Amino acid sequence: MKGIILAGGTGTRLLPLTAITSKQLLPVYDRPMIFYPLDTLIKAGIRDILIIVSPEHSGNFLNLLGSMFQKFGVNLSFVVQKSPRGLAEAYVLAEDFLDGQPSVLVLGDNLFEDDFTEAIQSFKQGGRIFAKQVPDPQRFGVVEFGSDYKVLSIEEKPEQPKGTFAIPGVYIFDSEAVKVAKSLIPSARGELEITDLQKYYLEKQTLDVRVITGAWFDMGTHESLFAAGSFAREKELGKQAHPMINDAIAEFNAEFKKIVSLKK
Ligand code: TTP
Repeated sequence: MKGIILAGGTGTRLLPLTAITSKQLLPVYDRPMIFYPLDTLIKAGIRDILIIVSPEHSGNFLNLLGSMFQKFGVNLSFVVQKSPRGLAEAYVLAEDFLDGQPSVLVLGDNLFEDDFTEAIQSFKQGGRIFAKQVPDPQRFGVVEFGSDYKVLSIEEKPEQPKGTFAIPGVYIFDSEAVKVAKSLIPSARGELEITDLQKYYLEKQTLDVRVITGAWFDMGTHESLFAAGSFAREKELGKQAHPMINDAIAEFNAEFKKIVSLKK
C-alpha cells in the first residue's frame, strides 16, 4: 500500500495567509499542517509517500521535508501539479509512483481525530471511503445512504444535499484508480472530480463507505484552521503523533539550531 498527500491547490479562501506560502505549511498549533496527514499514513504503516505540491511552493516543501525522514525509513517523493486541475488528477500524476499498487490518498488540509489504521490495513480491493455527518454538507462530496447504510448516490457539492453525510479527505483505492482517473472528463468547474472516481466504484458495487464519528477539520477557511489549531492544542495531538514523526521533528530542530549557531 502506498500513500499520496495532495498538498497543491491555491488556498484562496485563506488569503492573505496563503499569498506567500502553501496552505499545508501553515501552522496548526505546534507543527505545519502537513504533519497531520503524514501522521495518518505513517501510523497505518505506510512508508512510501508521494507529496503533490504546487509549483510556487515546491521549494518550501523540499526545505522542510526533503531529508527529514530519510534515516527513519520513510520514502518521501514529490511531484509538481502545474495547476489545480482537481483531486482525481492525483492518480494521473502518481501513475509511475504507484506502479500498479493500491493507495491511500489523504488531502493535505484534513485533520482527523479518528485513526484509519485498521481501515487501511484491512483493505483488499475496490474502493473504501468515509462518511461524516456535518451541518453544511453542500460544501463537500455528499453520500446518500438508504436503509442499512446502503449507498444510494454520491454527489459533488450539491445545492440540495440528499442527506447530511460528507465525504472527508481519505480515499483508499486499488490500482484501477489510475486508469479510471485518466479517463475522467473535467466537470463544469474544470476539475477532475474525486466523486466521479468514487461513482465508478459505486456503479461496479465495489465501493465500501464507513461512517466516522470523531472530529474532522478541513482547515480550508480561517475559522476551521483556527478551530483545528485549538483542537490540536486541547487534545495534545502532537503527543499522540507517531513517535517517528516527533523524533524526526526533534532532529530537524536540533540540526537547524546547530546551523544557526554556526552562522553566528
Ligand atoms: P480545496 O480546499 O478544495 O482547494 P484549495 O486548497 O485550492 O483552496 P481554495 O478553495 O480556498 O482555493 O483542496 C483540498 C485539498 O486538495 C487541499 O489540500 C489542496 C489540494 N488540492 C490539490 O493538491 N490539487 C488540486 O487540484 C485541488 C483542487 C486541491
